[in-house]
Amino acid sequence: MSDEPKSGNPVAEPDVTEMFDSIAPAYDRMNSLMTLGRDAGWRRAAVEATELRTGDAAIDVACGTGKLAALVAERVGPFGRVEAVDLSRGMLARAIRDYRDLVQLHFREANALALPYADGEFDAATIAFGLRNLADYEAGFREMARVVRPGGVVVCLELSLPRWRPYARAYHGLFRLAAPIAGALVARRRSAYRYLPESLDAFPSAEQLATTMRAAGLTDVRFRRLTTGVVAVHRGRVPERD
Ligand SMILES: C[S@@+](CC[C@H](N)C(=O)[O-])C[C@H]1O[C@@H](n2cnc3c(N)ncnc32)[C@H](O)[C@@H]1O
Repeated sequence: MSDEPKSGNPVAEPDVTEMFDSIAPAYDRMNSLMTLGRDAGWRRAAVEATELRTGDAAIDVACGTGKLAALVAERVGPFGRVEAVDLSRGMLARAIRDYRDLVQLHFREANALALPYADGEFDAATIAFGLRNLADYEAGFREMARVVRPGGVVVCLELSLPRWRPYARAYHGLFRLAAPIAGALVARRRSAYRYLPESLDAFPSAEQLATTMRAAGLTDVRFRRLTTGVVAVHRGRVPERD
């Protein structure tokens, strides 16, 4: 664990995409296992933070297998609209297969750092466990803010480090040890599951992430730590125009 936070993921985009393609079939099972089933509650907290209403439009960035996008789609209902984007075709294929019943939800291959949508097109943007994979965290927030209308919100659900340093170090050490073992047993992908704890190395703290959101132009930034601080939900607002 370093004290200097990094500003983006140093791993090349094609390598990240290939890694997620390779773990896509086991991703949901691994997620439930590694979070002891807590991820469902974390996603609900993220949806709550969007302030979305029936009929609204939202975008879920780095949607993976679509779990958060589906919850957002349920919140806005069949007269709303949710666009969900990801770079991994393997992850998108699972999402399309699992959520074909939600007519308001559309999946598309696209880069979080160059979203193929107009300025202010959505009422809210979400990203769950995706930010730490991006080459530039601030650029990721800036791009989400760009496609959200003034007054709308950007929500980020991400792994974090508990505030109490000894606990944070123990938690990080355990994650580093357990993730590749679980990856080898369940997903038969030990190396891919070494990437996950590594992507948390020098990842900004919850406070530092809030600073990054402000630097990206978001206002009224707040965050909530969940489950002893191993996860945090951040929410920022796109400023109203003068
Ligand atoms: C840990 S998964 C999270 C998936 C999902 N949001 C969830 O909550 O389970 C991270 C996802 O980010 C995607 N991703 C990584 N870099 C990306 C980029 N630059 N643009 C879009 N998606 C990206 C990966 O393909 C992967 O599906």
